[in-house]
Parts: sequence; structure tokens; C-alpha cells
Amino acid sequence: MGKISRLLCFLTLTDNRLMATITVLNGPNLNLLGIREPGLYGNQTLADIKHNLEQKAAELNHQLNFYQNNAEYQIVELIHEAYQAHVDFIIINPAAFTHTSVAIRDALLATKIPFIEVHLSNVHAREPFRKHSYFSDIAKGVICGLGATGYELALLAAHQILAERH
Ligand code: DQA
Repeated sequence: MGKISRLLCFLTLTDNRLMATITVLNGPNLNLLGIREPGLYGNQTLADIKHNLEQKAAELNHQLNFYQNNAEYQIVELIHEAYQAHVDFIIINPAAFTHTSVAIRDALLATKIPFIEVHLSNVHAREPFRKHSYFSDIAKGVICGLGATGYELALLAAHQILAERH
């Protein structure tokens, strides 16, 4: 059994009362994972990542909503919907909107839903414009450069943050 699976087992056994709703948001071009620059983003498709996270979330007794959208306003709408649906936590890979979107930042600030920012690639080891994020200073945490594992780690961290709140 791998380290993450062992940790999941432990967390499930020690805290199986907690049931939260977690929304995962993915920004533009992430629908092309698998064929998109695999040297940077890996070989897994977004469907693979979704399937894996859904399984892990179920093991942790959480409900997981998973979305991808190429339009900025749709991501803003999804954050508003998450607020109306009392979603407890957001995991977001804003993709290119990381470096441009005041609108998505404002939606997260307005709704006050705690969130973790995830990037598959190490944005700090790439072009200078990728070093700036409109999200990192208001995120609970940031994970980058660990590929699809970053989403799993974000889920575990969200689980722990939510457990500490109870
Ligand atoms: C990304 C990094 C961004 O700079 C880029 O625009 C993306 C993906 C990542 O997951 O590494 O689309 O968010």
C-alpha cells in the first residue's frame, strides 16, 4: 500500500464522522490534459484525475464536485453556486486565469469559501509571468510542481483543515 493510501486509511479510521462538500475547479485548457504538453503536465487526463479524486473523497466520506471550464465568467458562476450550495471547501487550478483574473479572486473573496490553489507544473520554474498569482496570498495553501498528486494532497489538506474546524 502506498504512503498516500495508508494516510487515507488512517484519516478515514480516525475521523469517519466528517462529511463535507468539496468543489474542484479547473480553468482553461485543462480539458486537454493527456495531450497538452505532457512533459509539463503529465500523461493523465482530467477524467483520470477526476476519477481518482472521487474515489479518495468517497474514502474520506466527502462529497466531491468536479468541474472544468474555459470561460472566466463560468468559473465565477461556479464559485457563486458553490456558495449558494454551502460548499465547504474549494480546490482550484485556475490555469492561465491564475495570472490574470481579478474576477475569480473577487468571487473567492466575496464568498469566503476556503480554498487551496493547485498547479500541476512548477510555475516558479517557468516563464516570469507565471510567478505571479492572483490567488496565492488569499489561499489556505498552494501546491505546485507535483503533477496530479498535487490534487490528492490538496484533498488530504482540505480534509485536515475541515476536521480541525469541527
Ligand atoms: C497551470 C499553470 C499555468 O501557468 C498554466 O497557464 C496552466 C496550468 C498548471 O497546472 O501547472 O494552464 O495552472
